[in-house]
Amino acid sequence: MSDPVKTFYVTTPIYYVNAKPHLGHLYTTLIADTLARYHRQRGVDSFFLTGTDERGINIERAAAARGIPVQQHVDEMVKEFRETFAAFGIEESRWIRTTDAFHREGVQSLWRVLAEKGFIYKGKYEGWFCPYCNEYKDVEGHDENPQCSTHEKPLEILAEESYFFKLSEFQEKLLELYKTRPGIVQPESRRNEVLSFVSGGLKDISISRVSVKWGIPVPGDDRHTIYVWFDALANYITALGWGNRKYQEFDRYWPALHLVGKDIIRFHAVYWPAFLMAAGLEVPHIVFAHGMLLSGGRKMSKTLGNVIDPVILRKFFTSDQVRFFCLREIVFGLDGDFTYDSLIDRVNSDLAGGLGNLSSRTLTMIRNFCSGRVPTPRESVSEGMKAQVEKVRLAVKRSVSDFDEAFNQCNFSRGLESVWAAMAAVDKFISDAAPWNLAKETERMNDLHWVLSTAYEAVRHFAVLLSPVLPCGAQDIWGQLGQSGTVASVSPDELVWGGVEKGTSINEIKGVFPRMDKEQTMDQIKQSEEAVTPASGTGKSDSAAPAPAAPKAASDGVISIEEFAKVEMRVGTVQTAERIPKADRLLKLTVDIGTEIRQVLAGIALYYEPESLIGRRVVVVTNLAPRKMRGLESNGMVVAASVEPDGRPVLATFTEDVPNGARLK
Ligand code: MSP
Repeated sequence: MSDPVKTFYVTTPIYYVNAKPHLGHLYTTLIADTLARYHRQRGVDSFFLTGTDERGINIERAAAARGIPVQQHVDEMVKEFRETFAAFGIEESRWIRTTDAFHREGVQSLWRVLAEKGFIYKGKYEGWFCPYCNEYKDVEGHDENPQCSTHEKPLEILAEESYFFKLSEFQEKLLELYKTRPGIVQPESRRNEVLSFVSGGLKDISISRVSVKWGIPVPGDDRHTIYVWFDALANYITALGWGNRKYQEFDRYWPALHLVGKDIIRFHAVYWPAFLMAAGLEVPHIVFAHGMLLSGGRKMSKTLGNVIDPVILRKFFTSDQVRFFCLREIVFGLDGDFTYDSLIDRVNSDLAGGLGNLSSRTLTMIRNFCSGRVPTPRESVSEGMKAQVEKVRLAVKRSVSDFDEAFNQCNFSRGLESVWAAMAAVDKFISDAAPWNLAKETERMNDLHWVLSTAYEAVRHFAVLLSPVLPCGAQDIWGQLGQSGTVASVSPDELVWGGVEKGTSINEIKGVFPRMDKEQTMDQIKQSEEAVTPASGTGKSDSAAPAPAAPKAASDGVISIEEFAKVEMRVGTVQTAERIPKADRLLKLTVDIGTEIRQVLAGIALYYEPESLIGRRVVVVTNLAPRKMRGLESNGMVVAASVEPDGRPVLATFTEDVPNGARLK
């Protein structure tokens, strides 16, 4: 994708509707959706196509297994796919179904063109066939019961009269194409795989079936139906109106960036360009093959039965969280293991702890220290502060260009990494400048304004930049920043540092990316997976997601006095307080609780300076089981109110004098 593009056309494979959608399907689709949003935001006329592959023996069998007509089966499945994708914020420009009449017209047109140009002939075919891949397989040796290596299911012998496409005539042309357009197949590893396949020689391929009834009839010979892969690949052009009268967008958008799984690279990087060349059409812009999502170390597939169910996924996670994970955790092009465990870790570290924390921290300080208005600092400022501010500005601006560069190479994880690196620089800048201290000194007000306006600018840039990846969260932050309109229509190229209207008021602050309770969520997911998954019912928007794992209350939320009495809370005085290396949030306290001095760890480091706590009267839960954190033991819990939106802790204390050790009842 290094070429400058005025229009942008991205496609996903069209999905077989023999079973429900799983995370593997969602993965490709949400990346395509992100790319379309990315280009649209930059003012590029973009088109994003996805859809369903509804023909072939496998679909016929799936319907037969359910005892319903094929059309009914495919209609139900398509609904399921569309609802699932919509629940993850996917907004395709068009959804193509291979059962659409215009598609049939287009496929038959393509067939006719190839036949007229002499690339199709009738012959006989016999071979081992995998109905799940819809492909004849080469079987080595004399295995009498060979299995498909992808699906681990028996192959079937198939012998039939068939029409063939003269693929063998395209070996040289394809090799020439890969040579002159080295970027056409990406990444490099897949290009090499394709090169070696084509260099090994190409045989003509069978492109019709007499045994399959649920297919598009071959023009002029309706005993045959068109092979599903011929039919399916054509979707990328029929959807734009090529070969049919329904749409007129072919000239505007073709050629496409095809995102596909590496499992189907051969169809897209060999057969498809050959069909197009044979028809005298332009070949794809790029075929980018990504890796497989693994579950338990094996490819996630409905046939292997190890899939992650998007319905369960959506029940516990917002679409932004899943989108972010797929783009950040998995290097696009490589296989990646999906676990709920690592998803929760990412959510907590990068979204709750990173972006969410930075934005609510910044906004809360603007609200508390600047009456909710974005400050406009005076020019005159110390050289030190000036240099720090400039460093932050450059870090953010660099992340904008690094993000662009990475996204243009489909290296999404690197793009996001660069944004989070800039975020860390902003966080450090805030912590070092300690605005909470500056706010105490009137003569340092200008410094405070420099710090907060800089942090605000950084968050504003991040919201714009991340909008294609986190459409809901970025818009929420945008609104809280007091910015109007949709962030998705603000191009990062037009962002001017400091270009915020003077005196902009921020809006109500709400936690955008709440922290998840890992243990509890994992338990709940397990229970959901064990229960029978309902057929459908995914929510439509982020707000439809239930709050992440709310703590279970007693049936009516009421406890007895005996239950309350079990909690022992005592008054204590902080003796010492210090930060813990590499634990940003924790302070190590020693607290005199009357009968002894206790070591207690408290997650308040972002909000309390250790020195300010010494001698402070606090409330400690003293009969909690000891807990280890960062290798240190905590013997109790300091009680604090959790103040919305960001859960800022405010320590409980007393206005009257109370002795250490006094019990709260
Ligand atoms: N119908 C064909 C594609 C025709 S395109 C002209 C097909 N369908 S499929 O439903 O079996 O899978 C299509 C795609 O889903 C894969 O190539 C890939 O993009 C995605 N994935 C399916 N399983 C996957 C994983 N486990 N991991 C990542 N993506 C996966 O093949």
